[in-house]
Amino acid sequence: MLEARLTLDPTQAVGAVSRRLFGAFVEHMGRGVYGGIHDPGHPTAGEDGFRRDVIDLVREMGVTAVRYPGGNFVSGFRWEDSVGPRDQRPVRLNLAWHSTETNEVGLHEFASWLDQVGAELVLALNLGTRSTLEALDLLEYANVPAGTTLADQRIANGRPQPFDVRTWCLGNEMDGPWQLGQRSAEDYGKLAARTAKAMRQVDPTLELVACGSSGAGMPTFGEWERTVLTHAYDDEDLISCHAYYEEKDGDLGSFLASGTDMDRFIESVVATADHVKAVRRSPRSIDISFDEWNVWYFSRVPTDLARNIDDWPVAPPISEDAYTVADGVVVGSLLMSLLRHADRVTSAAMAQLVNVIAPIAAEPQGPAWRKSTFFPFAVTSRLARGVSLRVGVDGPGYVTAQYGEVPVVDAAATTEGGRVALFLVNRAQDEDVEVSLDLTALGVGTVQEAVTLSDADPHAANTTDRPDRVGLRPTTHAEVDGCTLRVVLPPVSWTALALH
Ligand code: AHR
Repeated sequence: MLEARLTLDPTQAVGAVSRRLFGAFVEHMGRGVYGGIHDPGHPTAGEDGFRRDVIDLVREMGVTAVRYPGGNFVSGFRWEDSVGPRDQRPVRLNLAWHSTETNEVGLHEFASWLDQVGAELVLALNLGTRSTLEALDLLEYANVPAGTTLADQRIANGRPQPFDVRTWCLGNEMDGPWQLGQRSAEDYGKLAARTAKAMRQVDPTLELVACGSSGAGMPTFGEWERTVLTHAYDDEDLISCHAYYEEKDGDLGSFLASGTDMDRFIESVVATADHVKAVRRSPRSIDISFDEWNVWYFSRVPTDLARNIDDWPVAPPISEDAYTVADGVVVGSLLMSLLRHADRVTSAAMAQLVNVIAPIAAEPQGPAWRKSTFFPFAVTSRLARGVSLRVGVDGPGYVTAQYGEVPVVDAAATTEGGRVALFLVNRAQDEDVEVSLDLTALGVGTVQEAVTLSDADPHAANTTDRPDRVGLRPTTHAEVDGCTLRVVLPPVSWTALALH
């Protein structure tokens, strides 16, 4: 058995854990909205067409905020299409996902779904094919109490109180060649600054998110952030990061180390933002909105999605992967990376939520169920409270093809009111690791809860036929011996402990 020793000092806080770290993302893509959260013919659907069983699972997952309505979809979206009497709403092509958008679910319906879920609405603006004026119109429609044509139109459409959307994402992945209205960093940076200034004339207290590069692997990465922030630093609060990981060519070792890559990605963006801060002698920092992250088997998305110009289906299935235990372990590790950077990552969204790249599956006319990736999210959202603590890990490493040497044990911890939550991953594929931790300084001595996601087959997954094949089990060995906690982590596993 391998061994690792942790050190945890309650005075070594990284920063407060924002509840907004446990956000998710719902896009008009595939069966995410139609046939996902909304399915009027389903036995559990309410009069509004939203599935009650799906709402219950989203609540169980502990989702605190939802970014909407895209994603790539937003760059072709006219928000006016999505409000007003449903039978008069235009039906449009969804160019991002080669499908037909009926606009049956729009701003009002989605906000009322969020009320049932108990999560906050985060809106993304179209800065691809639209500009500042349309952004201002949507802000006025959504947030101004009454007395203007647009605010009164919202009231006439059935919403007397403003939606009061606090956080706005200014565009989506604007450096992506796949993006409708792709822009250069110069053009986007100026547009983001202009739009933010205009929005702040309506409400200076809004939280505004500038688009970072679409990913750390983009040729634009780094220079994009520097240029955009050079133009828009004083006008924005956050800059976005997006990252998706998948197991490629059977390289499970590299895949399990995805959290290491996320750490480096976050630290690069922080360094770039702080460079611009230094150049501008600015007293304020720009934080990160990691508003798309997950395991996504992007290599399985058909490349000919957009080829058939005679076929524009409504809500075709896209990216409905069965997630394995290894995928769930990586999701746990990505959440740990977010916690480790709680001082600068103050908002995040798992992408996405239902059916599409999703922790929740919703069968047509059938049940809704949890994929492996559901479990680490739900438990981390419930237990990670208060402040994030620095964790020292003294243990073995291994060499990966993609990221060089990485630690076998990944760890993160939070503390609040005499409680400590500890999150652990064993990346070893064949060996257990015994983790020990001296609890003296922490003032905790009881393991109140200990759960593990693991399986003899790391590629086992929940499926329609066996929706409960994988899930959380009580951790087999988690004991306090004197002042020392000892936990045994099975190979390819994620574990959470609540210590009181
Ligand atoms: O989440 C799926 C897609 O991934 C989003 O639409 C886009 O922003 C990203 O490339």
